[in-house]
Amino acid sequence: MYRSKIIGLGGHVPENVVTNFDLEKLMDTSNEWIVERTGIHERRFVTQPCGSAELALPACRGAIKDAGISKEDIELIIVATTTPEHQVPGTSSYLQALLELAPVPTLDIRVQCSGFIYGLSIADQFIKTGQYKHILVVGVEVQSVGLNLTTEGRDVAVLFGDGAGAVIVGRSDDESAIMSTHLFADGRHANDLWVDAPVGYQSPRISKEMLDEHRQYPKMNGRQVFKNAVIRFPEAVITALETNHWTREDIKLVIPHQANLRITEAIAKRLELPLEKVYSNIHKYGNTTAASVPLAMVDARKEGKFSRGDKLILAAFGSGFTWASAAIIW
Ligand code: UT7
Repeated sequence: MYRSKIIGLGGHVPENVVTNFDLEKLMDTSNEWIVERTGIHERRFVTQPCGSAELALPACRGAIKDAGISKEDIELIIVATTTPEHQVPGTSSYLQALLELAPVPTLDIRVQCSGFIYGLSIADQFIKTGQYKHILVVGVEVQSVGLNLTTEGRDVAVLFGDGAGAVIVGRSDDESAIMSTHLFADGRHANDLWVDAPVGYQSPRISKEMLDEHRQYPKMNGRQVFKNAVIRFPEAVITALETNHWTREDIKLVIPHQANLRITEAIAKRLELPLEKVYSNIHKYGNTTAASVPLAMVDARKEGKFSRGDKLILAAFGSGFTWASAAIIW
């Protein structure tokens, strides 16, 4: 058995900044409501057309450079996204083509906000068994083009943004390591945060009627999401701590999925951690779903919040419901 670690990290967001004031022009909302309920001040939206693979490419190149490897060293590409270019095939196929890496295997993961940590866990297993030495794990979302940017969709539309984060997972020969990953799900909540159409069990899968009924837009039972998130996030973090016999004092930083600042504050409170130890950059990017954890890692490292040898916990919760944590010695 080998040990794995993250050897390279990269992130990328579109240049186009969309502030809460910009959203005020599209729907009945206010900067005050959005900031108070979510902590979000602005997010990035792609300038169309730009698919998830295209958005992910600079983040991947950044991670490859940071790892000091060449792209030809990559043996598996894992992409977590809720916003693939097409229903079939997955974004990882398009990304592999852009990276010019045929015939490297590609794998899409559809577990929404927890996708990056699920991907990290899969990569960890392949490295541990010795099957692969370098794996690219990507979290990417182009949410903006799928949102209902009118008053009808405002509860969801103000939350989400576009972005990409990527890591290279490789073998560890020093103290740095992915120490543990824990994955969870509760499908009984599948329709508490979901996109109904295209519908897989109905012909045609998409119709004018469906579009007229706005079934193509994400719908959310916000209170249910919130209630579960503030329980599941801390549970996943505590599982990571207990597995590794780490105390709260041992952790340099918890990097949670950026769902909502109020959720992050609740996590800190439940874990009895000072807010400075639970990283947040949601004010800049909103909720970028599968991209938010690697993007937060990029920013936190840039801000000097952690360095080699520090103990980190990554955690996520989202649609499915799915949730997950990873304990890392950076
Ligand atoms: O990765 C997981 C992603 N999802 C989340 O993290 C969401 C978790 N949930 C939440 O953070 C909160 O439920 C929200 C921020 C989405 C909503 O906050 P809330 O306190 O649960 O508000 P609410 O849904 O109960 O709505 C309160 C009011 C309603 O108006 P009335 O019925 O009281 O007149 C909504 O229509 O706020 C209204 N509202 C808005 N007003 C202005 C809903 N969205 C907006 C909006 N701007 N964007």
